[in-house]
Amino acid sequence: MDIRKSHFAISGIAPKIAALLAAGLFVGSTAAMDTKKVWITVGDAAYAQLQKVAPQAIARESRITLTNQASSRFTGTEKVHLVEVDEQQLLKLSAAVHQELKRCGGFMFHPSESAGRKALNKPLVKRPAAARPAYAIGNQAIVTPMLAQMQDSNIVQTIVDMAAFDNRYYATTNGANASNWLLKKWTDMTAGRSDISVAQFSHPNWGQKSVILTIKGSDNPAEVVVLGAHLDTINMNGTYETTIAPGADDDASGIASLTEALRVMLANGYKPRRTIKIIGYAAEEVGLRGSQEIAQNFKDNNVNVVGVMQLDMTNYQGSSSDIYLYTDYTNSQQNDFVAKLISTYLPTLSIGYDQCGYACSDHASWDAQGYPTSMPFEAAFSQYNPYIHTSDDTYANSGSQAAHALKFARLAAAYAVELGSEGSGGTPPADKVETFSGSLTKGQKKTYGPYKVGAGGSIKAALSGSGDTDLYVRKAAAPSTTTYDCKSDGPTSTENCALNMAANGDVYLLLNGYAASSYKLTVSYRPQ
Ligand code: BES
Ligand code: ZN
Repeated sequence: MDIRKSHFAISGIAPKIAALLAAGLFVGSTAAMDTKKVWITVGDAAYAQLQKVAPQAIARESRITLTNQASSRFTGTEKVHLVEVDEQQLLKLSAAVHQELKRCGGFMFHPSESAGRKALNKPLVKRPAAARPAYAIGNQAIVTPMLAQMQDSNIVQTIVDMAAFDNRYYATTNGANASNWLLKKWTDMTAGRSDISVAQFSHPNWGQKSVILTIKGSDNPAEVVVLGAHLDTINMNGTYETTIAPGADDDASGIASLTEALRVMLANGYKPRRTIKIIGYAAEEVGLRGSQEIAQNFKDNNVNVVGVMQLDMTNYQGSSSDIYLYTDYTNSQQNDFVAKLISTYLPTLSIGYDQCGYACSDHASWDAQGYPTSMPFEAAFSQYNPYIHTSDDTYANSGSQAAHALKFARLAAAYAVELGSEGSGGTPPADKVETFSGSLTKGQKKTYGPYKVGAGGSIKAALSGSGDTDLYVRKAAAPSTTTYDCKSDGPTSTENCALNMAANGDVYLLLNGYAASSYKLTVSYRPQ
């Protein structure tokens, strides 16, 4: 069945919007009595729509701006206008843009006129950040086993749990509860790790809090890698306390992909050199408000964010390619790195390129502060999930699967580990090599270790000799012939075992004389 029809064809929303507009009811729950003025910036096309729904809203200032950071593929310019509007008019604007331009809203909210002017008057050519990451890829020993352990069933669970809230709107009780739910989920997952904290980020003007998980970097904690998704939802018919807005794809899928990447990093005891932050943003759907406050806060505190990845909608496969890298409001060098991560770690996946054409998600908030961003997206822009912002954005309408979101979860894990593992520590120490020789009678056993193996490295044990000695290797405790992480028990004394270490750890070896033998053992490993 083709589920890709327009919003309006499926649910007959257009006439409903018109009726709501006529009745003046098209407002968020807390703003019902409120005619608060807010400042937004909008592109030319959306501005034309705004003038239809709110003719009194005249641009205070207009400028040509660049829509990305010197991309070689798409360098776009857009005329952007700063306008003061009633808060209620924002929803009218979204609806009009949806209807007339067949795309989503595309305005950026600003807390004051001066903040809006500042955003508008950023220099046309953005200077590159002082220190660029090397964008090297060299942590296959950590990343490859992690990717193999990742499972779509965990992603399904997170999506279904989040979609079970009536809505996660920024101004409802459900919306606040959804933030608390995410806080608890990530806190429970990270229990026992003193280097990880999970906290809510409060926003002064609404109840829903953002959630920020921090894995403190082991050697370069001042450099920060951010992975984000938004936890809120909206129903474009108007969202009240119990309005149904499940947001299974937009954007429970993004939170779920990040949560699975987190799970596998934890399961492997991964400790990054840089600090990694995983953020569930509040209030994205009402003008990127949560992420704007967070990005502004980081900028004000001179936080050195070396890279930002936004996952907003990962589970609806609407197009022929697997992962679309959006080129506007993103950084072309980092996008090239993300493409290289895909070709290295997910070589069966195809890459597409597209753009929103406006500040469509939280990456734009970081881009506005000069931080390098990327936004891998589920489909080409013309083919995104048609059910978003309605009561029908359900798991079922994403095809009752999470295989698509799993691709993004794997990409997020590869990004976190490769960027998170760069640090001031420089190149890792050279492997140590130790050799031993000896002989065993039939049934005699000998244990070696512990070898203290460094994170991201590996340990290899190689046996040669006469007779038949077998080799067993185990992490954290001495192996037996029945309990081991690697065994090599061929009919001679030529045996080899290797283990990759995501985190620092002890490794033990056992040699078992299957028959009388003499042997030479070579152990090579990365020291801690
Ligand atoms: N997930 C969407 C953005 C999106 C939709 C990207 C379709 C690509 C294709 C996001 O949650 C959203 O709805 N954003 C708003 C803009 C925001 C500034 C209120 C939108 O697109 O209308
Ligand atoms: Zn979204």
